[in-house]
Amino acid sequence: MTQSLLCFVVLLVTAHLALSYFPDEWEEDCKKESGYAGDIGDLNYTDPSSVPRPAKCYMACFMGKQQVMKPDGNIDFKYAKGLYSKVHKGDEKKIRMFHWIVDECAKEYKEYPDKCETAFYYVKCKRLKYDAYNQ
Ligand SMILES: *[C@@H]1O[C@H](CO)[C@@H](O)[C@H](O)[C@H]1NC(C)=O
Repeated sequence: MTQSLLCFVVLLVTAHLALSYFPDEWEEDCKKESGYAGDIGDLNYTDPSSVPRPAKCYMACFMGKQQVMKPDGNIDFKYAKGLYSKVHKGDEKKIRMFHWIVDECAKEYKEYPDKCETAFYYVKCKRLKYDAYNQ
């Protein structure tokens, strides 16, 4: 319990650091566009049915701005890895971990009904792989 709680806090900090790498307006723009006002760090990723649709569309919007999601709605895994190398420049251990996570999620990639579902699948996959890696 303590360990999973710690993991969660670490993930939030990581998410926050990564977020601060990107312009604040992206977060604001995507909140407006999707109508989602919550914090995606608070979502329960092991219970997908509990995740509101606007939260998924918020993820799609943000990933679109990062260019991790291409305009056609597909995920650019190669670009995602390059981005992790930039965001965590100088921290080889973290870069190796995130590259492994992206590769694993690329392997599990399927077709999803739309951009919002695709984005949610990817974020959920990364979150679960992160937990697995850090166990
Ligand atoms: C998340 O969802 C799972 C599956 O429904 C549940 O077992 C777990 O208690 C939930 N966690 C939280 C923090 O609500």
